[in-house]
Amino acid sequence: MLIGVMSDSHDRLEAIRAAIEKFNSESVDLVLHAGDIVSPFSVREFEKLNCKIICVTGNNDGDPTALRKFLAKVGGELEDIFLKLEVGDKRIALTHGEWPEVVEALILSGKYDVVINGHSHEASIRKQNNVLVINPGSCSYPIVDGVVTIGKGTIAILDLEKMSAKLLKI
Ligand code: NI
Repeated sequence: MLIGVMSDSHDRLEAIRAAIEKFNSESVDLVLHAGDIVSPFSVREFEKLNCKIICVTGNNDGDPTALRKFLAKVGGELEDIFLKLEVGDKRIALTHGEWPEVVEALILSGKYDVVINGHSHEASIRKQNNVLVINPGSCSYPIVDGVVTIGKGTIAILDLEKMSAKLLKI
């Protein structure tokens, strides 16, 4: 089971398209989006995705009702703030991550094998307390050396059998 992980797409359509192409070429089974899609119109791009997408809201998602409606049209789902997902025997927490203390609490709770968050636009993959912690960064506006840049964004691929993840530049 391969899971595509992305976050903070912030309406940059060419980056969203590039992410979808990458996920399709890697044949992921599911995509998780950690928030800040922003405008409902950008959701239409996910029609080209070959698998289901599940999202959580981020601090810039001002109209969750419209986002949910547009996502439903492409077979996707939107949860408010947080999602707990069980795939096989693996428990995944997905949240945007604007409160680092909440992310830390999820990691330390012992209830999850994988914790995914975004918001910082800084990609990282690490192990903490035997939890795989994934921040895919932003596919649209990555922060490099403390500066917001356009392009060379990142996404991640999570391999649940191997319990490993990798970052991909798009
Ligand atoms: Ni954010």
